[in-house]
Amino acid sequence: MHQRAQFTLKLFYTNPKISRVSKSFYVTTPIFYVNDAPHIGHAYTEVASDVLTRWHRARGENSYLLTGTDEHGEKVLRTALGNNTDPKSWTDKLVTESWLPLLETIDIDNQDFIRTTEPRHEKAVQQFLQKLYDTGFIYQGSFQGNYCVGCEEYKNESDLIDGSGDFADQKVCAIHSKPVEQLNETNYFFKLSDFQERLLKHYEDNPTFIQPESAKNEVISFVRSGLSDLSISRSKERFDWGIDIPWDDQHITYVWFDALLNYITAIGYGSDEAKLNSLWPADVQVVGKDILRFHAVIWPAMLMAAGLPPAKQVFGHGWLLVGGEKMSKSKLTGIAPTQITDIFGSDAFRYYFMKAIGFGSDGSFSWEDLSARYNSELANGFGNLASRVIAMINKYFDGVVPAPAEYLEADLAIQKVAQDAVAGANSAIDKVAIHEAIAKVWTLVDELNNYITVQAPWVLAKDEADRDRLATVLYTTAEGLRLLAVLLSPVTPKATQKLWNSIGTSLGELSEQRIQQGEWGVLPAGTKLGELEVLFPRVEEQ
Ligand code: ME8
Ligand code: MG
Repeated sequence: MHQRAQFTLKLFYTNPKISRVSKSFYVTTPIFYVNDAPHIGHAYTEVASDVLTRWHRARGENSYLLTGTDEHGEKVLRTALGNNTDPKSWTDKLVTESWLPLLETIDIDNQDFIRTTEPRHEKAVQQFLQKLYDTGFIYQGSFQGNYCVGCEEYKNESDLIDGSGDFADQKVCAIHSKPVEQLNETNYFFKLSDFQERLLKHYEDNPTFIQPESAKNEVISFVRSGLSDLSISRSKERFDWGIDIPWDDQHITYVWFDALLNYITAIGYGSDEAKLNSLWPADVQVVGKDILRFHAVIWPAMLMAAGLPPAKQVFGHGWLLVGGEKMSKSKLTGIAPTQITDIFGSDAFRYYFMKAIGFGSDGSFSWEDLSARYNSELANGFGNLASRVIAMINKYFDGVVPAPAEYLEADLAIQKVAQDAVAGANSAIDKVAIHEAIAKVWTLVDELNNYITVQAPWVLAKDEADRDRLATVLYTTAEGLRLLAVLLSPVTPKATQKLWNSIGTSLGELSEQRIQQGEWGVLPAGTKLGELEVLFPRVEEQ
């Protein structure tokens, strides 16, 4: 509502204290390796982070989503060379042709996109390194051990499994199924081992720092078993695709030490203190469980060393599986997001992955399941509800939303369902249980459909004596649609915008609406409906 927006603005003007202390709700995704184009696993992380950010925005919070690309290191370098090009040209091409377009494909509303090859990042990484070096958290030493280039990670013997096929008599990385390489060099170390106790205390004092619960237990027992110092540089004798160590021009920075810093370099670390403070600590750092240890162990220790607080939460979600294994770029088992969105659209992509897989659990993608849910839940459940209600208001009330007369039990029951859906969905979002939030909202879709069947407006329309009742029933369904448009706008932004264009514009922009506590009666009687574009068009069987 325009009036509401003005009111908020005024509040900020007249009470500078509020704007000073207000911190944005800051969500981050991992920054992805540009060794290849994205698959639906990367899109999955992006969508979850975007739904979360949009939801908090719809609650009236200032929210901010950061995503980006991780461009240094051996893995990206080797891929570039394998494709007969240099890493700079390779990453530029992949970012412009594949990674940025992904955000359009799945409708991501990110506030920034960081590439680790940007000067703003490289400069701030060097400042951070220098600070830790000057304060004694970094020292020179020598290293010998196993390294997986796929993970860009050192591996303990216990992280390796027996190989099969070509690698039958070797130990291989459990994630990439490839042999590890022996590294033996002199380089710089971060005193990670100093942080074991502080980390354990942090986990204990902040029980929701690592989520979900299963992931948290795994990290805690890993840290309890002891931490080794971390090699954070590479000799240029081996390769030099990375950020120079500021005090030693013979070394570059280990790719993970460089990459983790993106979460603060993008928001002003070392250059814009005010911006940094308005966003950091991040509220939720969404990552796949494959990289949870980096985010829940190494990253908070790095921050503690620099005198900065850890993020409020790290959420390690599950994997999309193919044949029981993690879908992967390296194994070429990826499905391109456009294969799905070209047929079903971005809203269906977003809805399907967020609803069908419990957030935190692994899941498999199936065309049959997607197609079935598209038809029954989106096209018939939600889309049809909208078109029926609007068609009936057009037919019986010339397209003008009627004023409700007396509310009866059935109408009050819908109001209660609406109120419970809002409260339940909001508390699910607070737990980052995205699937649960959508399921709560869907109780309103289902109950409105039942309500229409039971109230049978087409029967009420036959008798002039039932005119008031007809008005109440149709007002109830229209108000239910208004609420659904607001509640589902973070999940299916395109469809809810179409719905809003038909029923909501007298209330202002959809983006200005707030997910309130199930407040009823917001849609003004007398609203003239606009035309409704089909929300979820039929998809031809292929
Ligand atoms: O690890 N299912 O980048 P990466 C679900 N650059 N999510 C998946 C997935 C799957 N099958 N496959 C990938 C890196 N992902 C580092 C991160 S952050 C400072 C640096 C998603 O390209 C998931 O979010 O290997 C996973 O954690 C991430 O992509 C790994 O992407
Ligand atoms: Mg990976």
